[in-house]
Amino acid sequence: MPSAASEGDMRVIYRGAEADLLRGRWCGSDAVFKFRRPFIYRLKVLDDAIRRQRTAREAEMIHDAKRSGARTPLLYFVDPANALIVMQWVKGRRLKEAVSSLPPEGLERVFAELGGEVARLHASGIMHGDLTTSNVLLDNDDDKSNDKELTLIDFGLAIRTTRLEDRAVDLRLAKETLTGAHSEVASKAYAALLEGYGGEVGPGEVRDVTRQVAEIERRGRYARVE
Ligand SMILES: Nc1ncnc2c1ncn2[C@@H]1O[C@H](COP(=O)(O)OP(=O)(O)OP(=O)(O)O)[C@@H](O)[C@H]1O
Ligand SMILES: [Mg+2]
Repeated sequence: MPSAASEGDMRVIYRGAEADLLRGRWCGSDAVFKFRRPFIYRLKVLDDAIRRQRTAREAEMIHDAKRSGARTPLLYFVDPANALIVMQWVKGRRLKEAVSSLPPEGLERVFAELGGEVARLHASGIMHGDLTTSNVLLDNDDDKSNDKELTLIDFGLAIRTTRLEDRAVDLRLAKETLTGAHSEVASKAYAALLEGYGGEVGPGEVRDVTRQVAEIERRGRYARVE
């Protein structure tokens, strides 16, 4: 981790495949430092370029997502040359861990909100690219300062696109994550997500995108049989 203008102690909260995430303080606020580690087996100039590019892209996409009206962490500092993003620390837990303890009406509310957030991204030409319940944070119950409960994170794979196929890929991954990791509530949660999505972009859009999801699933089955 390069020496940025952080204050006080830092502690590692997550070690991902590419990035380390540390919690610390930035200009008086709780912050998360996302640092993309060097890959020693990659040619250094190439590795530096990749990490610089992904860092800049993730920061841009967080910014664009926020402009679309979705809730994302505030960006505090971006240093592409050092592969570092400093952002607001969001108090809460990952939706992945929260799902099993949500009451039925809470589950529907939360997934409808998620659908609305994703629809806003899509309507403004952004595909999240990694729409799993690990990349959504749910506010702690005691924090009701905002009308929204969810924050979208991890825009490392996000792209600008208006293709129906890309929007469907996002929804397909969300559906697959629900079926794989939260099977007992998957169909309710996915239905609520589509409800929220449709509330934002209208029923015609939902019909088109769910048709495309079905088409992707059909292709997947066909590919497996081959
Ligand atoms: N702004 C934030 N506030 C609170 N916790 C966060 C924040 N950003 C990330 N986290 C925590 O760190 C974890 C990993 O973050 P993130 O998903 O961005 O990294 P990653 O999955 O390793 O990304 P990549 O695969 O692109 O390297 C999250 O699941 C979440 O628990
Ligand atoms: Mg992630």
